[in-house]
Amino acid sequence: MEEIKKIGVLTSGGDAPGMNAAIRAVVRGGIHYGFEVMGIRRGYQGMIEGDYIPLSSQSVSGIIQNGGTILLTARCKEFLKPEGRRIAYDQLVSHGIDAVIAIGGDGTFTGATIISKEFDIPFIGIPGTIDNDLYGTDYTIGYDTALNTVVEAVDKIRDTASSHGRIFFIEVMGKEAGFVALRSGIACGAEAILIPEATGQLIKLKEYLKVRASQRKSSIILVAEGEEAGGAIAIAKKIKEEFPEFDIRTTILGHIQRGGSPSAFDRVTATRLGIGAVEALVDDQKTIMVGLVNNDVVQVPLAKTIKLHKDVNRKLLELVEILI
Ligand code: F6P
Repeated sequence: MEEIKKIGVLTSGGDAPGMNAAIRAVVRGGIHYGFEVMGIRRGYQGMIEGDYIPLSSQSVSGIIQNGGTILLTARCKEFLKPEGRRIAYDQLVSHGIDAVIAIGGDGTFTGATIISKEFDIPFIGIPGTIDNDLYGTDYTIGYDTALNTVVEAVDKIRDTASSHGRIFFIEVMGKEAGFVALRSGIACGAEAILIPEATGQLIKLKEYLKVRASQRKSSIILVAEGEEAGGAIAIAKKIKEEFPEFDIRTTILGHIQRGGSPSAFDRVTATRLGIGAVEALVDDQKTIMVGLVNNDVVQVPLAKTIKLHKDVNRKLLELVEILI
């Protein structure tokens, strides 16, 4: 493969705590291996518009503890069109960029897979999304921090739920997956967890809530935003219609789950994957994602990460059944 002298790094899609730690590792790892590193701001939108910024070791000093991304991010529809990708590629060439490291989720990796094949240019993916829904890695950057944010919020809601003997439906993010709801639900002792991967839970939930209400006990129900029966508001409405005597409230945690200082786990994972991405380029890899599997950094074909489905840990679902 042609010698790589300059690599571009970008963040794309929904931001996630730990992205800055990954950027820092890519820049310092790149410099260590003799590369020049250019930041591409605002994801693929900036790649198309030529929004590039040279990065030095100093550029990424003092950012490991910050949520968000110093390179900004965006969702870019233009990149889905061949003419948009052609402009993006021409911009890469005009800035002397020989390879790109893209930090993001499945949307990011879809675009990366296509352009990498179209123009035979190396794209290395780093899984950065709070959803943890990417095949090929046990953890995505931002997931652990989001879990801790949810647990802290739900613990606060439990104080008022138990004081009033109320039923709280709390909606968490995760797109079409239930990873955030499942693990944070177990961590905060939720009485029920509704996720897309476990269908037909509503009937069981109604029976359970009847018992809890008869005992005048409060309940916390975590609802993944992609749940089949709808989000927290829709489900709470259904339950209230059937049981008007229930004292019900709903909370949608929303974008608080995307912010905050990254956890130690996310910082270390981001650092390992950032260096791993640079080393993948040193190893002449072209279109792969670096992931964390059984605590080892692995390389997975990028196309697989967007084509194959990652299931939730069914053992955790069994735990929920036992604990309730
Ligand atoms: O992919 C991360 C995520 O936070 C999802 O969990 C959520 O559904 C989506 O992004 C929200 O997108 P936006 O920030 O564009 O509203």
